Amino acid sequence: MLQQLQPAYVIESGIWKGQGSWLIEKTLPEATVFSIDIDLSKREYISPKVHYFQLDFSKIDWSIIPDKENAVLFFDDHQNALERLKQGINLGFRKFIFEDNYPKGKGDCYSLKKAFQHAGHKTPLLSKGWRAALAQIWSPGQRARAIAPNRQDADFLHSVLDLYYEFPPVFKNQKTRWGEAWTDDLYPTPAPLFTTLEHDFLKPFETQAMQYTWICYCVVKENLL
Ligand SMILES: C[S@@+](CC[C@H](N)C(=O)[O-])C[C@H]1O[C@@H](n2cnc3c(N)ncnc32)[C@H](O)[C@@H]1O
Repeated sequence: MLQQLQPAYVIESGIWKGQGSWLIEKTLPEATVFSIDIDLSKREYISPKVHYFQLDFSKIDWSIIPDKENAVLFFDDHQNALERLKQGINLGFRKFIFEDNYPKGKGDCYSLKKAFQHAGHKTPLLSKGWRAALAQIWSPGQRARAIAPNRQDADFLHSVLDLYYEFPPVFKNQKTRWGEAWTDDLYPTPAPLFTTLEHDFLKPFETQAMQYTWICYCVVKENLL
């Protein structure tokens, strides 16, 4: 995505160990990168070139980016994606990537996909293993606020977005990551790029397929503000 878009600025919210920051920097060595996490101590990769913030995206003065048209925002912070989109739009940004774009009934945060499905959000009951895994990436004390099923959020998205594109999985295993059958009602998903993994270079995607979360790119209409 970044290679195609070639933005001058990238804002990344949700750093954790810094793998994303590393990838952004390697992909776009000329870009100015702003990386945000509410706990920077988890970073293992720290770049001297990246501008780091230990502050929520909504609390940062983004007048530091004069040319908002030339920026891409990448959210992987497990917060409410619709709120993030609204915050970004109000600041004048137009291009967004959302990871953890979970379908209805799944995942720990409200996603654009759930909004399009009129699904609302309720953090599902989690197994002990999942709670331990999420403890590493959640804000301290984070419980995502429940959102009632509604169609207003989808209507809002239709009214502000020029483009909403879910990237297809590279490969789909027989069952979803939750061990369920792929039904179009619960898991509307673009066709995978590969249906078999016969080449060695494709083998890692068998594991990766269990991490796919409908990552999406969206562009806000021009002259909305
Ligand atoms: C899934 S991890 C990010 C993974 C990362 N993008 C990578 O490349 O591996 C989620 C991160 O979001 C952070 N986080 C939680 N709440 C946040 C917030 N309000 N703003 C920014 N980051 C937040 C967590 O501390 C955690 O490090």
